[in-house]
Amino acid sequence: MTGATVDGSLLATSLRTRMCGSLRTADAGTRVRIGGWVHRRRDLGGIVFLDVRDREGIVQVSFDPRWTPAEVLRGAAAVGVESVVLVEGEVGARPAEARNADLATGEVEVRAATLMTLGPAATPAIPVARTRGEEPAAEELRLRHRVLDLRRPELQANLVLRHRLLQATRRHLSDRGFLEIETPILTKPTPEGARDYLVPSRVHPGEFYALPQSPQLYKQLLMVSGFDRYFQLARCFRDEDLRADRQPEFTQIDIEASFVQREDIVTLAEGLIVALFAEAGLAVATPFPRLAYADAMERYGVDRPDLRYGLELFDASDVFRGADFGITRAALAAGGRVRGLRLPGGARFSRKQVDELEAIAKSAGAAGLIRLRSAGGALEGPVTRFLGPDAAARLGMADGDLALFVAGPDHVSNPALDRVRQEAARRLELIPPGALAFVWVLDFPLVERDAEAGRFTAVHHPFTAPHPDDLALLASDPARARAVAYDVVLNGTELGGGSIRIHAPDVQERVFRLLGITAEEARARFGFLLEGLRAGAPPHGGIAFGFDRLAMLLAGASSLRDVIAYPKTTAARALFEGAPAAVPPEELSALHLRTDTSDEAAGAAAGD
Ligand code: AMO
Repeated sequence: MTGATVDGSLLATSLRTRMCGSLRTADAGTRVRIGGWVHRRRDLGGIVFLDVRDREGIVQVSFDPRWTPAEVLRGAAAVGVESVVLVEGEVGARPAEARNADLATGEVEVRAATLMTLGPAATPAIPVARTRGEEPAAEELRLRHRVLDLRRPELQANLVLRHRLLQATRRHLSDRGFLEIETPILTKPTPEGARDYLVPSRVHPGEFYALPQSPQLYKQLLMVSGFDRYFQLARCFRDEDLRADRQPEFTQIDIEASFVQREDIVTLAEGLIVALFAEAGLAVATPFPRLAYADAMERYGVDRPDLRYGLELFDASDVFRGADFGITRAALAAGGRVRGLRLPGGARFSRKQVDELEAIAKSAGAAGLIRLRSAGGALEGPVTRFLGPDAAARLGMADGDLALFVAGPDHVSNPALDRVRQEAARRLELIPPGALAFVWVLDFPLVERDAEAGRFTAVHHPFTAPHPDDLALLASDPARARAVAYDVVLNGTELGGGSIRIHAPDVQERVFRLLGITAEEARARFGFLLEGLRAGAPPHGGIAFGFDRLAMLLAGASSLRDVIAYPKTTAARALFEGAPAAVPPEELSALHLRTDTSDEAAGAAAGD
């Protein structure tokens, strides 16, 4: 289990004197009363052992005629696993052959004199105790029976770590002058890119609150009001498609500070990360390396590159130019490029394995992968005959290498090569265990063109400051304007992101205009922000970390669900309680609502 969370004496109550997990050889001879759950029961006929578990660990309790009255022993033989019991007895040192090196309490046992079953348990729907190597029950079943699942020592340890990280965050930031200020949960709908969860107002028919996607505007306004340094462990809500590293409600370490520039926030964020990793026993070296967004896209095809391994992308257009090969010729003629990856030792991949990599590229939108392998001093592959004799040298390929290419525009090759790169690194076993590769990605573009909507959208959010050198580009070539925005990435996961904000109202109005937000709309949606900026706003900026993601990485978990007490499934359901759920029509009409569950309405909601 988790080991001590606090000084054990603080956990003594009028019912119990000690925690199960705290008992050691030094306690031998002490009379104790412990309470907990029956983790396992072994009945040896005449002697019964109960492993009793509490938050601090597991201890063996022995019921033996030498020290246990007969009726107590009979009771122990009948108690069901996962029942809550209270046991009184004496701590004894186990004989050498009965010691258990896997348990912190493995050198002792509690010799029971009394047993009370305070909370009998029905037969558990999923096992809590597992034998070595046994897999936990299927996740859906575990989420349905979350009460039992949360009893598993692994999940208890994760939530204890989460608690410690929350406290370390508060300590670190409070010690540096940051004030913890809570901001509203019922807010004005102001979409930041993802979808709002809406809450109907009963007293104002037809009007809605939105749950905050982040406290972005509140924290900026707190700076305008002079609080100087703010943080919050902020619950955020986003109605977006879910993945293992996304939940519809999640927690951010949300930070904002006044009279700062990018470097102030970068230094502060690195300090906080060092403190949080130290809390989990990990040393982190600073400063983190930095990459400009444009370089990240060019070298890795993604703005959150995993730098635990190399495998950089390269441009092979020149090698393919002039080759009489339809696919590359067409792509180059259309202004695209031929970009690829060299996989050292990849020539040993079977055809099937390369087909699997190609399937990944295709699922990311590429038409296919062009393959070249270098074996026995010659290049092999369907395009070889179209390439010059010096192609291997020009492509930098050594014997045993495999090279994979995507021909086309960058917006097609980037996602495909990113996915192929990640999978190839796994298959080539290039990822050093325990490696922590942090990187700052800087100089994001301010806006990008949304082809469907035919207008610009903010890459970070509409309140991010344009780079001071690029202000003129807002009028002439907005897509080339950089933002003072930064993301911190660890092992390919975006841990956090932030920016220096616009504090001049006229610049904010210009950016709104650029994003196709009319003056009237800006007043309606963001009037309170503009008013604030006109009231005398200091330069300010901040960052928000995905706290669940941090906890997940530090716990060594692979899903956010393993570090959140009551998470949602990827279908955004809470299985143990059955949310979301229908509500009776009379409740809806009190909220001035009617539901439409027709196919047409469902299609519209899904964006068809
Ligand atoms: P952003 O949207 O980048 O920035 O969010 C900051 C961090 O929050 C985490 N995150 C999530 N974690 C779990 N589930 C989700 N659905 C989810 N979405 C985001 C990520 C991300 O890096 N207001 C700005 C911050 C700022 O500018 O200061 C914001 O919310 O780790």
